[in-house]
Amino acid sequence: MLQNFPGMEEKNGELMIGGVSAVSLAEQFGTPLYVVNETVLRKNMRDFASALSSYEGGGRIFYASKALSVKRILKIAAEENIGADVVSEGELRTALAGGMNPENIMYHGNNKSEKELAFALSQGVGYTAVDRPEDVYRLAALSKEYPHKIKLLFRIVPGIEAHTHDYIRTGSFDSKFGMPIEEALPLMQYAKAQGLCVAGLHCHIGSQIFETEPFRDAAKLMMQFLKEAQALVGEDACILNLGGGFGIRYTEEDSPLPPADFIQNAVRVVTEAAKELKMKKPMLFFEPGRAIAGTAGSTLYTVGGVKKTKVGKTYVFIDGGMTDNPRHALYDAQYEAVIANRVSDEATQKVTIAGRLCESGDVISEGILLPPAKEGDILATFSTGAYCFSMASRYNRVPGAAMVLVGEEAPRLIVRRQTAEELLSLDL
Ligand SMILES: Cc1ncc(COP(=O)(O)O)c(C=O)c1O
Repeated sequence: MLQNFPGMEEKNGELMIGGVSAVSLAEQFGTPLYVVNETVLRKNMRDFASALSSYEGGGRIFYASKALSVKRILKIAAEENIGADVVSEGELRTALAGGMNPENIMYHGNNKSEKELAFALSQGVGYTAVDRPEDVYRLAALSKEYPHKIKLLFRIVPGIEAHTHDYIRTGSFDSKFGMPIEEALPLMQYAKAQGLCVAGLHCHIGSQIFETEPFRDAAKLMMQFLKEAQALVGEDACILNLGGGFGIRYTEEDSPLPPADFIQNAVRVVTEAAKELKMKKPMLFFEPGRAIAGTAGSTLYTVGGVKKTKVGKTYVFIDGGMTDNPRHALYDAQYEAVIANRVSDEATQKVTIAGRLCESGDVISEGILLPPAKEGDILATFSTGAYCFSMASRYNRVPGAAMVLVGEEAPRLIVRRQTAEELLSLDL
């Protein structure tokens, strides 16, 4: 199984992550511990960038930092010359603190406040996705005070149904994000009349999608919309941002395509459509989050014990849970796991990995095979780099877990463990 998860290997019966013993990481930094493999992270970024590099219309990859917003991770993205998609002042500040060029930042959000937009303008952020008319009204009002010309990409709901969990499907007409093209077109004209920089269109159809068809359909449709938009506001609206959403492997059953395939598919569709529609090839943007950070991350826990219920269900209890990884509770997500200190032992027992929080849904993975676990074992779960740390909560007043970077240099702490005192210090 390890060969399916990049950077994972076995040595002397122990799990190695990016060449470092998982047990030694747990000893040195404590658990729960997020481990990010820098080599995998950089490779994921480079794979996306190189897949787009041969496209003649030009373009850029923006790392969707909601997946994992940590200063050091954003610094790596900046070093790899990819941009960042941010959705809050906090994510923007993290990208800037990581050394990201503000011109390479895309500001998103379905309910951006005037204060947030003013902050983005004051920092010289390159792009913003217009999610609803209020964004335009606010930016028009702010433009008197802030001369910086932020480029506007209008977020369109293309009405594409992707096969994914309801909560991460965003391209359908009932989505809380974006607007239909018939609403966007007059708004683009209005924005232009207000002196704003109307730069193109955006769409994002959902997340953890494995098929290429919905992406191809969306790309084709968005090219038609871009043509309509250019007829109204001119060819300066020349950017097409096709979002993220590329699926990754969480379990053995998942078989995602390599990132390059998704990008090359979209490039092919856009190139053909440009020819058909007699348009200049637009500049193409993509915003992968999960497919960059997901497989680069894993989480280490200490097993607190095992419980067998009256009806035969076996729980393995860990010292974390939905506070560091809420994805099972939210989406029924499943994870593969191993006992890091006995990684070659045969997985013979069907177990549910449950956390320490006061909630029956506090589960990481349900009904997976593990070797019989015991107190003190180190349990590792894979593909936890995206939407775990960033969706973590402080339920039961459990302090935030630490994060360590491995793979390129000696293990390096990049997020310090929170303390219970720090949590309490916010209470007045
Ligand atoms: C606008 C936008 N872009 C990109 C992403 C990243 O999606 P993923 O992590 O699935 O690639 C999201 C996720 O919610 C999004 O809303």
